[in-house]
Amino acid sequence: MSTTENHKLDIRRPDAHVIRRPDAHVIRRPDDWHVHFRDGGMMETVVPYTARQFARAIVMPNLAPPVTTVNAARSYRGRILAAVPEEVRFEPLMTLYLTDDTDAEEMSAGFRDGVFTAAKLYPANATTNSASGVSDISQIAGVLERMQADGMPLLVHGEVTDPAVDVFDREAVFIERVMAPLVRNFPELKIVFEHVTTSEAVDFVRARYDEAPGRMGATITAHHLMINRTDIFRGGIRPHLYCLPIAKREQHRLALRAAATSGDGPFFLGTDTAPHAVAAKETGCGCAGVFSAPVAMQVYAQAFDEDNKLDALEAFASLNGPAFYGLDVNTDTVTLERVESEARRRVLAPGGEEIESFFGDDKLQWRFSHS
Ligand code: DOR
Ligand code: ZN
Repeated sequence: MSTTENHKLDIRRPDAHVIRRPDAHVIRRPDDWHVHFRDGGMMETVVPYTARQFARAIVMPNLAPPVTTVNAARSYRGRILAAVPEEVRFEPLMTLYLTDDTDAEEMSAGFRDGVFTAAKLYPANATTNSASGVSDISQIAGVLERMQADGMPLLVHGEVTDPAVDVFDREAVFIERVMAPLVRNFPELKIVFEHVTTSEAVDFVRARYDEAPGRMGATITAHHLMINRTDIFRGGIRPHLYCLPIAKREQHRLALRAAATSGDGPFFLGTDTAPHAVAAKETGCGCAGVFSAPVAMQVYAQAFDEDNKLDALEAFASLNGPAFYGLDVNTDTVTLERVESEARRRVLAPGGEEIESFFGDDKLQWRFSHS
């Protein structure tokens, strides 16, 4: 399905003989396996960006208050669908926010009924709206057993919250302290190591996948493929590049590039697009999150192209995620063309709040369209 055309016939119009499309790359429509939509006016503003590019998205449950019940997930899903533009087809896949008090019965029923696609583990206080997260993994042993028995995927924010651990080490330390024991103690549990940012995480996930394909996967964001930690301080502090897990050294960015562009099964697309109002980012204590939805596929295409791996983009964006989740792949296609354009720097939410887009200061090298 993946095709790169260099001055060739337009494959969508084989009868239109000499339509030339310089550097157009056609792939099955992608899915985004990690998004934050928020709620209210912010949600209405950001949902269309994701829905235009992606057929499905795993929706994070870290609202205030978080999505901890079947009813909350059902009604949130309804609000998201109401914000999807009429002309696009988009399916939000809902997740349950795990707490120390999660009811395994309700979770299991929600999974069986198709309300929940997965459950999300936030270590308490690791990131935005995670105060009600899990204080210690031992608190949810029964829930994890149930997930393992049901085949329900566990999505993990993989950072320790120990204030004594350097913020740049929190993912690597999490592997040792939490992820490795978790994988050992629940050998059949399907786990996604979300938004990996280190070579340690890449190696860990690849090794688990090699032992048992399909039991572990990892999402990789577009921004972690493009920036390292030095970029956050390029010429001054850049709050719009601050997210959690924070970008690491260049060697880690290169490891993420190699993992994503390998096209290998355990690695799939998850933007972690996380909008915050500009005022909440550009302040004395700014929120974590990069809003990448408007430019997601354009930036992924650029990263893969820079590494001469465009042929692996479809596996990463459109095939490996559905394989992990046991879902069908999408049948429609999208086109990425090598055409330079300005990204839109900011978008405006109904309350007058502005949200700054990733790549807002840069030129996009690729253009996205439906085939
Ligand atoms: O940077 C982040 N922003 N990381 C997260 O884990 C949460 C997210 C958010 O919700 O803003
Ligand atoms: Zn996230």
